[in-house]
Amino acid sequence: GKGEHRHFMLKEIFEQPEVVSNALNTMLNPADRTITLPRLPFDLAAVKRVRIIACGTSFYAGSVAKYWIEKLARLPVEVDIASEFRYRCPPMEADGLAIFISQSGETADTLAALRYCREHGQHTLSLVNVPESTIARESEAALLTMAGPEIGVASTKAFTTQLTVLACLAIGMGRATGALSAEAEADICRSLSEIPARIAEVLRRDDDIRVIAQGIAEARDVLYLGRGTGYPIALEGALKLKEISYIHAEAYAAGELKHGPIALIDDSVPVIVICPTDELYEKTASNVQEVVARGGRVVFFSDREGIDRLSAKVFSSMALPSVDPVVAPILYAIPVQLLAYHVAVAKGTDVDQPRNLAKSVTVE
Ligand code: M6R
Repeated sequence: GKGEHRHFMLKEIFEQPEVVSNALNTMLNPADRTITLPRLPFDLAAVKRVRIIACGTSFYAGSVAKYWIEKLARLPVEVDIASEFRYRCPPMEADGLAIFISQSGETADTLAALRYCREHGQHTLSLVNVPESTIARESEAALLTMAGPEIGVASTKAFTTQLTVLACLAIGMGRATGALSAEAEADICRSLSEIPARIAEVLRRDDDIRVIAQGIAEARDVLYLGRGTGYPIALEGALKLKEISYIHAEAYAAGELKHGPIALIDDSVPVIVICPTDELYEKTASNVQEVVARGGRVVFFSDREGIDRLSAKVFSSMALPSVDPVVAPILYAIPVQLLAYHVAVAKGTDVDQPRNLAKSVTVE
């Protein structure tokens, strides 16, 4: 049941410290700060290229993983939406690694892409939340996300556990390729082991996010901006909002602002900015300045340092705990989920069963 929570979605959002920690426990050794991947039926050290294929929120988890695997393992990664990939029939060199991400493990397009990759000589690895699912059974190896049953149609805990497992996988790949030093591995492992506690801190700010949401419920359009791994989190935030509140939302890589979307900015368009303090902070901060100069109502998600450094006058801001930039996307997923949730509640929509949507898309 929903327990003390009004909706399954809210219950599942609040389960995240626990389930992320369960996902971490499958691979992270806290004592020596290393990752142990399960034994795989192929040699990770021999992998030269990686493809990640998924739909919806799982695709956004894969989009974060592209940044991680490129950075930590220095392997080229392509990310594809399953329905585009399968009909494009792309040529593939043998011995690539294809990773499929699916909460349900039953998504029709993702399954078709998996079958295509197997037929084309790829090693196949799936990340699923349902262990006995078709995608888990048909791939050479499966990693479990350990989120427990997800009832809300809007994916929340499945996403953050996917990210957690993908971060561990990227570290394991970095070790296999030799691109990641033992010191760097230990640093990221420490940050990962602290992430459940940091998520719990953000959840304690639920009321502040509810207040921010009141100012967004009346909007017709909402824009989300982010850079680096903040960009897929912006995409995920926009998807969450449109799915359950029916407000039109779009996400852009912050650097794309000048290439078109800035024309949309006026004082009726809230602009949600994902901006942890990292090496791209200044770039995104200057985009915020441009939005504010055009009357845009910016909601700024950053950390204390990022908020103090910002000169632009934003409409509202929220300081999340400071974390290692590598793990920041896991943390910044939380406020965009809560924001979408509270906007939907303010609008009175059916949060757990939004119109026109099914939990698992088993027909294309
Ligand atoms: O079960 P899957 O992870 O394969 O599902 C993929 C998408 O259908 C799913 O993430 C969808 O986008 C969610 N409703 C998003 O909240």
